[in-house]
Amino acid sequence: MTVSSAPGKVYLFGEHAVVYGEPAVPCAIERRARVTAEPRDDDHVRVEAVDLSLDGFTVEWAESTKDRPDVDVPSSLVEAAMGYIEEAVAQARDALDDHDAGFDITVESDIPLGGGLGSSAAVVVAAIDAAVRSRDQRIDPRELANRAYQAEHTVQEGQASRADTFCSAMGGAVRVEGDDTRAIDAPELPLVVGYDGGAGDTAELVAAVRELRERYEFAADTVETIGDITRRGETLLADADPGEKPDGALLQELGELMDFNHGLLSALGVSSRSLDTMVWAARDAGAAGAKLTGAGGGGCMVAVDDTDSTQSALGYTPDCAQTFRAELATEGVRAEE
Ligand code: PMV
Repeated sequence: MTVSSAPGKVYLFGEHAVVYGEPAVPCAIERRARVTAEPRDDDHVRVEAVDLSLDGFTVEWAESTKDRPDVDVPSSLVEAAMGYIEEAVAQARDALDDHDAGFDITVESDIPLGGGLGSSAAVVVAAIDAAVRSRDQRIDPRELANRAYQAEHTVQEGQASRADTFCSAMGGAVRVEGDDTRAIDAPELPLVVGYDGGAGDTAELVAAVRELRERYEFAADTVETIGDITRRGETLLADADPGEKPDGALLQELGELMDFNHGLLSALGVSSRSLDTMVWAARDAGAAGAKLTGAGGGGCMVAVDDTDSTQSALGYTPDCAQTFRAELATEGVRAEE
């Protein structure tokens, strides 16, 4: 039995704008997807999902998930999850140079599905790693990040940046600008996540921003301004002591940039009432700043606050289904067994 895990992430800055070549800074958090892979003698793939924030399910297929036998969970989230796993298996087979390799795969995740915390990237990264290692081969994190990106790119029909997959494979804070991906130093940020229990449709939201950007020059300018905020945020992070708590002034300035970033994402139409409500609850509670994270439309927001006030305020916010403090995950993908 081979088990790999990979972390989810929050975006400190730059989601959506990263799709158009602007930089983004995601940061891995200690919420992980764990994938177990066991080689099979035939070329079938059997997937068991124990907990993807929905009921568990099992799917087995020979050629493709499209030809699979009936499953009694026709949810679009299940369809999407299967698409990611099918592409992860295709990448693992390619890395192994064995296009008939079969696997029994089990997925467990404590990252809400579709909530903007990079659940699909974490599952894809951990699945490729576990499948390859289950056949006694190794894959280095950069190749893994690249293969996971190819998998996401296929499932999301070209609407994917390298941000999620690179961050999940490498861990820590990273900077992504087009094909340029690198790890960056980051201080120990006091991140608080609020989750509304829902999910946004990434492909749909990306397409809507693309359309706005093509229609209005000021929407294109908004995307560029998000890039400026990210660049400013990066210099702030670079000035802080890596791994140490940042001082109050730095936290305030980072928070201000996050607030600004949220406002622009909202202008681009990717926030939602529940995300805005949670962002305002955090600000009212004294957070240095707050923004949605990921594609938006519902799901998660992230705030910076080194006191307990934001978490406690979110706990009393009806739109918030779950709130937790998110520790930076310094380790990316890792072997669990
Ligand atoms: O919601 P998530 O975790 O899938 O993040 C999407 C981030 C986008 O910038 C909107 C798209 C992308 O691939 O970078």
